[in-house]
Amino acid sequence: MTNLKKVLLTGATGFIGRQLHTALQEKGYEVVPISRSMGIDFNQMTSIESWHPYLEGVDVVINAVGIIVETRGQKFEILHQQAPSALFRACSRMGVKRVIQISALGADDQACTPYQLSKKAADDVLRSLQLDWFVLRPSLVYGLGGSSMQVFQRLSMLPIIPLVGDGQYYVQPIHISDLVATVRQCLDVKQTQRTLDVVGPAPLTFEDWLQSFRKRRQRAPARTICIPFNLMLALAKFGRFFIPLLHPDNLRMLRQGNVADVKPLAEFLGRLPLSVEEGLCLI
Ligand SMILES: NC(=O)c1ccc[n+]([C@@H]2O[C@H](COP(=O)([O-])OP(=O)(O)OC[C@H]3O[C@@H](n4cnc5c(N)ncnc54)[C@H](OP(=O)(O)O)[C@@H]3O)[C@@H](O)[C@H]2O)c1
Repeated sequence: MTNLKKVLLTGATGFIGRQLHTALQEKGYEVVPISRSMGIDFNQMTSIESWHPYLEGVDVVINAVGIIVETRGQKFEILHQQAPSALFRACSRMGVKRVIQISALGADDQACTPYQLSKKAADDVLRSLQLDWFVLRPSLVYGLGGSSMQVFQRLSMLPIIPLVGDGQYYVQPIHISDLVATVRQCLDVKQTQRTLDVVGPAPLTFEDWLQSFRKRRQRAPARTICIPFNLMLALAKFGRFFIPLLHPDNLRMLRQGNVADVKPLAEFLGRLPLSVEEGLCLI
């Protein structure tokens, strides 16, 4: 371990945050976890000064707060953009040595949905600051306790799997243990100020991703039914109240594809991340 000891971890109660918390504690870091249910609501943390009390003596900040759909009190602009931007600026002011932002694949120059654009806006603020930063852009993260994974798992076990459009768009899921390993490496390496796409070793179609859950359970591939994209968008208007992931923007992002070159991540880790077959064996 380097001389970085005390870590402020936002979003510590989430799927990614929980895994990071455990892994960093095991490595001997002093982790200060925060999240909304622990009394610190990003809606109230949009000024630089509001962060000062939490940054005393902190060496590293990891931001893992995020939402996939907006609700009345949970807006992308505040949670993804305003509060993290204030946090990053406060880090710069308070001498925090290193900041790791959990962004998302697609938060780049081609970003087009409010989710991606709000993530990119905060990433840009962090990249403009004179501190040791990392912007990590994961693809779909899967592993025990992941909420989107439960949805995919249930879908895959239906006798006939409904696919949005033709299901032939690509995803590149990354196992949570590889994302955790990437964050740990960010704490150790000297070369900082890097944006890294955190993706699995190879893209696969969304249909193959769903079928791979069946393969894991030694089930034969299921038949599929393609639901035309525009019909799916119409269904999603109501469906999203039952399954929030079904927001039309999320369907658009899915169809857009969610892939990147794995080489930079493999070089950073010194190995390839786990394949879907290997990762699903850990679940
Ligand atoms: N999971 C993926 O596949 C994936 C892929 C790419 C990027 N990411 C990004 O990774 C980050 C973490 O994702 P996740 O899957 O761990 O999400 P998650 O399980 O939904 O956890 C979200 C975390 O954010 C906290 N949070 C939500 N609203 C808040 C607020 N108003 N104030 C303070 N904290 C708040 C939650 O705290 P409470 O529980 O206390 O409400 C929770 O700790 C997000 O930024 C997400 O966009 C995730």
